[in-house]
Parts: sequence; C-alpha cells; structure tokens
Amino acid sequence: MNIVLVEPEIPPNTGNVARLCAATKTVLHLIEPFGFKLNDTRLKRAGMDYWRHVEWHRWASWKAFEEKLRVGAQLWFIESNGLKLYSEAKFSPDDYLVFGRETAGLPKQLLEQNRDRWLRIPMFNVQSRSLNLSNCVALVLFEALRQQRFKGEIR
Ligand SMILES: C[S@@+](CC[C@H](N)C(=O)[O-])C[C@H]1O[C@@H](n2cnc3c(N)ncnc32)[C@H](O)[C@@H]1O
Repeated sequence: MNIVLVEPEIPPNTGNVARLCAATKTVLHLIEPFGFKLNDTRLKRAGMDYWRHVEWHRWASWKAFEEKLRVGAQLWFIESNGLKLYSEAKFSPDDYLVFGRETAGLPKQLLEQNRDRWLRIPMFNVQSRSLNLSNCVALVLFEALRQQRFKGEIR
C-alpha cells in the first residue's frame, strides 16, 4: 500500500505514520510544503528508530507527485463528509490512501473531482469535527490490509 500525507503540519503525526508504515511495509509519500523541518527532533522521536526502515518519498507539490504516478494508479481520498464509508471501498495492494493537512484537510477541488473515491470515517458526536490524522491513517490502512487477509504478516 501507499500512504500520502498532503502538506503535513504536526511532527508527531508524521512520525507516528512513519512508524506505522515501517511496521506494515507501506510506502510513505510526503507532499510539500511541510509545517516542520525534516530534521525536527519531534518527528524523529515520534517515529523513533523507524525512519530508516521506511521507504519514503518527498514531493515538491501535488502536481509533482501526480505526474509520476503509474498509469492506472488507484487513489482514495480520505476526508470527512465523503459519500462512501472507508469500509465500503475495495482496496487493492498498490492503492494510494491520501490524507489532508491537520488544519485544513484536503483541498475541496481535489475532493470534488474525485467524489466516488472520497471516503469518510464515521463520526458520532457533532461537537467533534474530525479525528486525529495518524489515527485515520491507522484505521484505513488496516482496513485495506484486512481486505488483503493480512498477507505477509510475520509472527
Ligand atoms: C484533523 S483532519 C483535518 C481538519 C478538518 N478538515 C476540519 O477542519 O474539520 C486531518 C486529516 O485527517 C483525516 N480525517 C480526519 N477526520 C476524518 C473523518 N471523519 N473521515 C475521513 N478522514 C478524516 C483527513 O484526511 C483530514 O484531512
């Protein structure tokens, strides 16, 4: 699987996601601009020693990332208010799970252009606008891995 963080802002979230990617052999794509420096100690601390076990790529912009996608690459946009629940999607092993910025979420235009691939995680309290980014990544990634019967699990 591939995880894409668009313009991440909070170091511990990106660090947690890196650790998750290391544990699941998932490729991580980070799209600039970032809200931190890549040598930020908070980023390292949250990802601990896991960064060296992650295949990760840095992209200067969404456009630069999109241009290098292989033909037929399947992207899913994870954002609140999607028409579909994340559990209703049928994920394939090479798919890309795209997540938005902590403050602003994914750009509305990107979501509107991909309405059939816009997935929501259900919310149950009107006082809560959204979930933590790294929690969202864990939820959706493990649903995708579950659909692949956790192929490659080590015990
Ligand atoms: C903290 S949220 C973004 C803030 C949010 N757009 C807002 O202002 O209400 C950061 C990212 O987590 C993911 N996310 C958070 N809650 C979600 C939900 N209920 N369904 C799907 N994705 C969610 C999305 O990828 C989102 O871009």
